[in-house]
Amino acid sequence: MADKAERNKAVARTVANIRQLTDGKAIVPDLLTQIRAELLTLAAKKDLFSFQDFPPPEKTLKRRSCLYRLSEDEDHGFALYVNSADGSVNAPPHDHTTWAVIVGVHGQEENRFYKRIEAGVEQYGKHVVEDGTGVALMPDDIHTIHIEEGAPVLNFHMYGLGLEQLDGRNFWNKKKGVWEVFPAHTDIREART
Ligand SMILES: [Fe+2]
Repeated sequence: MADKAERNKAVARTVANIRQLTDGKAIVPDLLTQIRAELLTLAAKKDLFSFQDFPPPEKTLKRRSCLYRLSEDEDHGFALYVNSADGSVNAPPHDHTTWAVIVGVHGQEENRFYKRIEAGVEQYGKHVVEDGTGVALMPDDIHTIHIEEGAPVLNFHMYGLGLEQLDGRNFWNKKKGVWEVFPAHTDIREART
């Protein structure tokens, strides 16, 4: 188990740097790149973020990924989570209605990017998030995430606003051929102390 005090200090420092970077500024892609750099610095402290400290969902649960809240401001801004997954994960194309940055710590999470078209979405790119890399998304950007069975993943997901507050995220329901509102995440675990 990692030293909690050390982890809390590192997380607080990262979030303070990000708060300072964005202070009073409109969020633009260039700023998200700077946020990503801060999160990559935190992700390099691998000993502080192990599967032992942030285990994936218990085998008995259907859901194969869960989130641990590392930090969130009182007004729910700057919400930083550890995403821990073991098993097949395939999220449908969705937006976030706020900015989002994902950075790899352990394992690989494939992100695919889409543009909106009349008939739904069309993929235009992808990036495998793993050690030393990350992706950044503006509020309207659409992505899917894919994690393979038998290859556990632990990474950081940071949002401009806490996920419980994001009740209007849109996702493309391929089966029905319509955009729908994403149901709230059902497995967020408190990791602040
Ligand atoms: Fe997402």
